[in-house]
Amino acid sequence: MSVLNNTVLSNKNIILGVCGGIAAYKSAELVRLLIKQGAKVQVVMTQAAEEFVAPLTFQALSGTAVRSELFDRDAENGMGHIELARWADLILIAPATANTLAKIAHGMADNLLTNLCLASQAPVLLAPAMNQQMWRHSATQANIEILSRRQAVFFCGPAEGEQACGDVGPGRMAEPEVLIDCCEGHFSAGLLTGKCVLITAGPTIEDIDPVRYMSNRSSGKMGYAIAQAALDEGAQVILVSGPVSLTAPEQAQTHYVRSALEMHDTVLQLVDSADVFIATAAVADYRPVQKVAQKIKKNADNLTIELVKNPDILSAVAALPDKPVTIGFAAETNDLEKYAIDKLQRKNLDMIAANLVGDGEGFEADNNELTLFLPNTSKKLPFASKKQLAKQLIEEIARSLLNKVSQHELCSKKNRKNND
Ligand code: PMT
Repeated sequence: MSVLNNTVLSNKNIILGVCGGIAAYKSAELVRLLIKQGAKVQVVMTQAAEEFVAPLTFQALSGTAVRSELFDRDAENGMGHIELARWADLILIAPATANTLAKIAHGMADNLLTNLCLASQAPVLLAPAMNQQMWRHSATQANIEILSRRQAVFFCGPAEGEQACGDVGPGRMAEPEVLIDCCEGHFSAGLLTGKCVLITAGPTIEDIDPVRYMSNRSSGKMGYAIAQAALDEGAQVILVSGPVSLTAPEQAQTHYVRSALEMHDTVLQLVDSADVFIATAAVADYRPVQKVAQKIKKNADNLTIELVKNPDILSAVAALPDKPVTIGFAAETNDLEKYAIDKLQRKNLDMIAANLVGDGEGFEADNNELTLFLPNTSKKLPFASKKQLAKQLIEEIARSLLNKVSQHELCSKKNRKNND
């Protein structure tokens, strides 16, 4: 097998933890790609993983005997588990099952892999893979939240789609090529390496009755492009998305919500680990006071639906005592500058990206035009694709806002919290 010279992963020591899930077969390809990139790979399998793929497959691909026993006399004579923990530059666990995630979240060390996670100072990159219901389960989500807050623990995926069990939803392991990108991201410093960026995207839907709802025309394109641009700069990205027909970047940790209240609760649950919050979502300002249980009959000529104001997610984040760098969007049909500056000040933001909407502008289109307002300055990002604008926006955030933050606080909020 040919080895590429001088790749980001050249000579990096990577422990690949393989847990017992059907996605374990993809880990064989992952080993092949890591070796091709010049990495040194030590595969560590859980007992359950051996039910899915024979250790010999990984041994043949990595050129090294697979490790799985915590108390392995032969291994302890040579590179024992503590040496192995010290050897690693990165621990990649793919697939990471719900069971192993739970163990790591709670500091258990009942097998070699979980032991290594405790004994090593290397970053841990987790590629969750499980049935969609298991992923959505509150116990798993609580474990993910614990892990998201931990220093040097990162996620890649899971992706959404068809599952081996026939279900459709989140829980597919990120593809090996995507995992290689994630590994590279850890060793190459981007503008946002080590930062966690929380992004809202898309519309929210406010149900009126079982068949009708109120919403808006946001496609999610702007928010998803920002998520990708942040990933490209090495950030860990948490995406909270309303219902859209786009595919989320596989490396992002994506949480799907429907209503403004769900988006509000999800953001406030996750914001603690964020260094940067970008509110791109077009959140419905009002919701019906009541969601009627049965379809409303159209007997009357007029129908009045009483609405109540939704909580302002952006303002809630900006009001937190230990708030992340907070960026809002302003969607206006007129008086763009006046309304944007008003929102910047009223919502206590670090920056607001203003765009004109309506008449084919802003919503749904592939292109857009943004004006960035900061407390003392403004900058126009001329008409371009949303992908290009997202890249420029992320660069501007890194330059203008994170440098300012890093003068006061030299390490990322995530690191700071763990050092407290
Ligand atoms: O999704 P696309 O089709 O690509 O379209 C992109 C976009 C037009 C939706 C995007 O560029 C944009 O402007 N998003 C913000 C839309 C919006 O709701 O703007 P607003 O001016 O009403 O709200 C101001 C800010 O407060 C926004 O950051 C919004 O996310 C936030 N907000 C608003 C209400 C609320 N209840 N909670 C909030 O967090």
